[in-house]
Amino acid sequence: MIVPFDTEPEGEELEQEEKELEKHGLHFELSRRRFMQTAGVISAGVAVGAHNAGAAETPGSKTQAITLKVNGQSKALSLDARTSLLDALRESMELTGTKKGCDHGQCGACTVLIDGRRVNSCLTLAFAAEGSEITTIEGLATHSDPKDASELHPVQAAFLEHDGYQCGYCTPGQICSAVAAVEEHKRGDLSIVSFHTGKVDHPEMTDDEVRERMSGNICRCGAYPNIVAAVRAVSGASA
Ligand code: FES
Ligand code: FES
Repeated sequence: MIVPFDTEPEGEELEQEEKELEKHGLHFELSRRRFMQTAGVISAGVAVGAHNAGAAETPGSKTQAITLKVNGQSKALSLDARTSLLDALRESMELTGTKKGCDHGQCGACTVLIDGRRVNSCLTLAFAAEGSEITTIEGLATHSDPKDASELHPVQAAFLEHDGYQCGYCTPGQICSAVAAVEEHKRGDLSIVSFHTGKVDHPEMTDDEVRERMSGNICRCGAYPNIVAAVRAVSGASA
């Protein structure tokens, strides 16, 4: 079943209208419209998928041009409008550092940064990230020599120093999440723990603060004590 957009313009009329919106700085309206178009394609795809499970292509699939800026480099791609950012990174850009755990927004293995904010890339449409700066685990270090740990991002170096991983599957997501958590703490963002303890004026990164702020990232190996130690060390928390 295709969801019709009876009230929305199409073809040249649509292009003309989008140009007008851009000309008048109505980017919000433009974004809303594009979101609705993408959501409509997804709805159509889900409905078709229910009748046609396993088919490689469904009548709801629609490939569109997209440019994603990842780790400072722009790449033009052609993607199904329903592609998650996670799949775009892993399948179309060969950036397999970002891991797929649950694919349902529950484990945090797929965490990347969009404009410095942590997101679950399995729950983010690639098209929603167009125009943003995306940073993955591959983009954190600036080193030229992979063996030189001194050139790693400070959070990566802290994970190494504090042995913050076992199998390593959750680690890229943990590290991306920790990078943002440290920045959030630096600028004074509060967590529910801050309110519970009453320390709302730049609270120290205690174990509880770190656990709360990193609670979206699951480690099946249970490396939590060392992960907490690594994040605290980067935050400059006292022992
Ligand atoms: Fe995205 Fe688990 S793979 S949250
Ligand atoms: Fe294995 Fe976290 S180190 S899942």
